[in-house]
Amino acid sequence: MTLQETSSPASVWNNIEGIAFGGDYNPEQWPVSVRLEDLELMKEAGVSFLSVGIFSWALLEPAEGTYDFAWLDEVMDNLAGIGVKVALATATAAPPAWLVRKHPEILPVTADGTVLGPGSRRHYTPSSAVYRRYATGITRKLAERYKDHPALALWHVDNELGCHVSEFYGEEDAAAFRSWLKRRYGTIDALNASWGTAFWSQNYGSFDEILPPAVAPSTLNPGQQLDFQRFNSWALMDYYRELVAVLREVTPGVPCTTNLMASSATKSMDYFDWAKDLDVIANDHYLVAADPERQIELAFSADLTRGIAGGDPWILMEHSTSAVNWQPRNQPKMPGEMLRNSLAHLARGADAVMFFQWRQSFAGSEKFHSAMVPHGGRDTRVWREVVDLGAALKRLAPVRGSRVESRVAIVFDYEAWWAGEIDSKPSVDVKYLDLLRAFHRQLFLRGVSVDMVHPSASLEGYDLVLVCTLYSVTDEAAANIAAAASAGATVLVSYFSGIADEKDHVRLGGYPGAFRDLLGVRVEEFHPLLAGTQLKLSDGTISSVWSEHVHLAGAEALQTFTEYPLEGVPSLTKRSVGAGAAWYLATFPDREGIESIVDQLLEESGAAPVAAADPGVELTRRRSDDGRSFLFAINHSRSSALVQASGVELLSGERFEGSVPAGGVVVVAED
Ligand code: GAL
Repeated sequence: MTLQETSSPASVWNNIEGIAFGGDYNPEQWPVSVRLEDLELMKEAGVSFLSVGIFSWALLEPAEGTYDFAWLDEVMDNLAGIGVKVALATATAAPPAWLVRKHPEILPVTADGTVLGPGSRRHYTPSSAVYRRYATGITRKLAERYKDHPALALWHVDNELGCHVSEFYGEEDAAAFRSWLKRRYGTIDALNASWGTAFWSQNYGSFDEILPPAVAPSTLNPGQQLDFQRFNSWALMDYYRELVAVLREVTPGVPCTTNLMASSATKSMDYFDWAKDLDVIANDHYLVAADPERQIELAFSADLTRGIAGGDPWILMEHSTSAVNWQPRNQPKMPGEMLRNSLAHLARGADAVMFFQWRQSFAGSEKFHSAMVPHGGRDTRVWREVVDLGAALKRLAPVRGSRVESRVAIVFDYEAWWAGEIDSKPSVDVKYLDLLRAFHRQLFLRGVSVDMVHPSASLEGYDLVLVCTLYSVTDEAAANIAAAASAGATVLVSYFSGIADEKDHVRLGGYPGAFRDLLGVRVEEFHPLLAGTQLKLSDGTISSVWSEHVHLAGAEALQTFTEYPLEGVPSLTKRSVGAGAAWYLATFPDREGIESIVDQLLEESGAAPVAAADPGVELTRRRSDDGRSFLFAINHSRSSALVQASGVELLSGERFEGSVPAGGVVVVAED
């Protein structure tokens, strides 16, 4: 049973007006005089929502059973006084020193047996019964104290669960893993069958013999690895649920969430699974400064977050006003980039724009991380941009609650990501996100909006469905994808999809087992390419990474390999299915190749760009229930760009004249 089935607290949006704006607030790092100045600055910037107390346990409970809430009382009262709502943290993301000293067994253990010590943060394992006892203890104290506080709008449970450490190998983790396996399989025979332990004499006589897949002489059992991945994702969420159970008991009406890290960099947590237990989806996103196309990675993260949220509005819980401090070279954001980033998240479904953090620290390891109030204070570019952003978000209040419109779905599955990247596969160069992001990038560049959809979620209403390197898939999900084609969608499936089932057992009879009939192809043998090599295809485009021996079994070839030993073998095929079509792509095309395939897919499916615009403009449309629509156009280029739209531009309040300035953003409430 999920938490949502047991109770339904009020929506966080009932408590917030317009687009929420703010960030992490860590007042415990500052004297009262600064905290009072904060209130004035917050009013100036139009701050409406703050996450408070995320790393404050050691100050709230300085010794076991001794509490000091005076400073937090003052902060909460003052914030309520200026009308700011609070996502109050459970303070559990950094256990205090006294707790570690008394109970060092709460510390996380890595695969090689290293115990990760204190002095930083997140130094606990979620399966520690002792840790959970103390964490639920401080959570209960906070809930009891602030349950009727007018500032309290949301519980911010722990922080970025699984950040820094997402796999836990200690003794208590091993015991929890064994219990989880017992619940999953019931009998040891079922586990042996699922893990294929007849191989290499890995058969288990009882659950007690099982250990986490730590270090071993050679490759570890893939079923064990996959289940350990599932277990760790579950264990973090199970810890979340235990804290939320306390919050539900004491503050049943207050919604709960935790901040996810959905992006191309976070693989270990199955956020589609987690979403079932979050009352609202919240995400943190940080740009990689060295990525020249970082706006596309941002779009990918935001689209994925919206997918996790099932299309509902979500909270951008953290991003940065300018530089971070944890990349090798921390370049500041360019002028206007923060506004573009913020509105890009909004354009992709966020209804709250928040930062890490409100005021830049003067001490500690994040003192060179940007914030809303920089070291230099008010007379800084960053502060002026923060104030401008606050004003912009006020004008965008009408967008609140509207939903992003997309006719293209990219199927996204953490389990397939995990399974497909376990060792001992045909090629280390097949990475789950590479082809998927190459398609996403092409669609981004064309202004075609994309939803990320879990393979077993409804694909109804999509004109185009892309299934990229979806190595493992359940029967149910394969049928769901096939049904989309029958119903009229153009479905493209790529190489190394549908190879295995959810146990990571190969589907026999020829690849890609789960999609063979849908696609009308049968693949006999894989021919992954050696590092750095490329192939010429019959239409003159180039590909890399992968080729394979494809036989037609109902499909027609649209393109073929041209080189020995696969001359004339299909590399791209198509089969008509019901009202739609199923395409198969048997290699990783280069940029031109992907462009050409995307052209063909868009033409066949009828999926179209959001609007006509010059290159360099990011486009999305949000539509509200009452039919109003809002076109977001973000000009990432350094010259002004034309966009075809008519209506009132919300940021200026004027009629839209058709052009977006270099680096600028327009939001058109369309006629
Ligand atoms: C996040 C974290 C914040 C802060 C931020 C810096 O991962 O939740 O507390 O450390 O990164 O970028």
